[in-house]
Amino acid sequence: MTGSPAAPAGAGIKLDVEGAVATITLCRPERRNAMTPAMWHGLAAIGGSLPPHVRAVVVRGAGPSFSAGIDLRLFSPEGVPDEERLADPLSPGFGDWLAGCQAGFLWLRRPDIVSVAAVHGHAIGAGFQLALACDLRVLADDAMLCMKEPALGLVPDLTGTKPLVDIVGLPRAIELCLTARTVTAAEARELRLAEIVVPAADLGDAVGDLIAALLATDAAAARATKELLAGAPARTLEQQAAAERAAQAALQRSRQPSGGA
Ligand code: ACO
Repeated sequence: MTGSPAAPAGAGIKLDVEGAVATITLCRPERRNAMTPAMWHGLAAIGGSLPPHVRAVVVRGAGPSFSAGIDLRLFSPEGVPDEERLADPLSPGFGDWLAGCQAGFLWLRRPDIVSVAAVHGHAIGAGFQLALACDLRVLADDAMLCMKEPALGLVPDLTGTKPLVDIVGLPRAIELCLTARTVTAAEARELRLAEIVVPAADLGDAVGDLIAALLATDAAAARATKELLAGAPARTLEQQAAAERAAQAALQRSRQPSGGA
């Protein structure tokens, strides 16, 4: 099936669903895919209405960059024409408003899907955080990652801080964020911010190959295994062993004709 079941109009996002694979394309290339609240709400809407047969989600950017981060015009008094403004951090509704924006990122970790960021060119600020929101990152060799927020007097608040610490460790995360320096694709591979780095011309094919390999495994086993792995950091070895036993029993029970009832 091909189509756009839930890419909201005007959000600067395109959604294509082809069989078990959904591809989300940030499509504001003339602004280097700068992001707005409408884009974050649009991402959340896609997550909330993804067809149940989708098992893999690719997030990519049109044009020269993955994403140059938040649309900087949002910080000006004029804002972005015809766009929702940023909520005032001092207003009582700020937390709920920001949670609504973060929802656009958080669903990419759901156990029923595997999400892959296909990153080329710049991934700055919110753009880097979107790449971090995905389970896996495939980088073109021209990719440049930067957590720019602290340099602009902000904290990164679009769910990127935890995956960053989980991947690179606390000292390196502090160094990257507090210097707001740019990480090249080669360094990103060393820091494990990239599963694979490929020549820019090969990015689409490399992502396609990875998705095909991911989809070759049994769907129910993949889902249960992702859930098990995602829970591992918070458990002791004994707790994780118990979780493995429970997950195996539940998975095999679900295969019984009665569905384990
Ligand atoms: N917000 C709004 N407009 C942007 C943004 C942005 N974040 N990034 C790029 N644009 C616009 C530029 O203003 C320019 O518009 P124009 O053609 O009307 O002049 C157009 O996109 C192309 O940008 P260039 O700078 O000409 O493109 P280039 O390839 O030379 O540079 C780069 C790309 C490095 C991404 C540069 O545009 C840049 O530094 N952008 C700002 C990055 C930034 O600070 N983002 C905020 C991070 S913090 C956060 O996300 C919370």
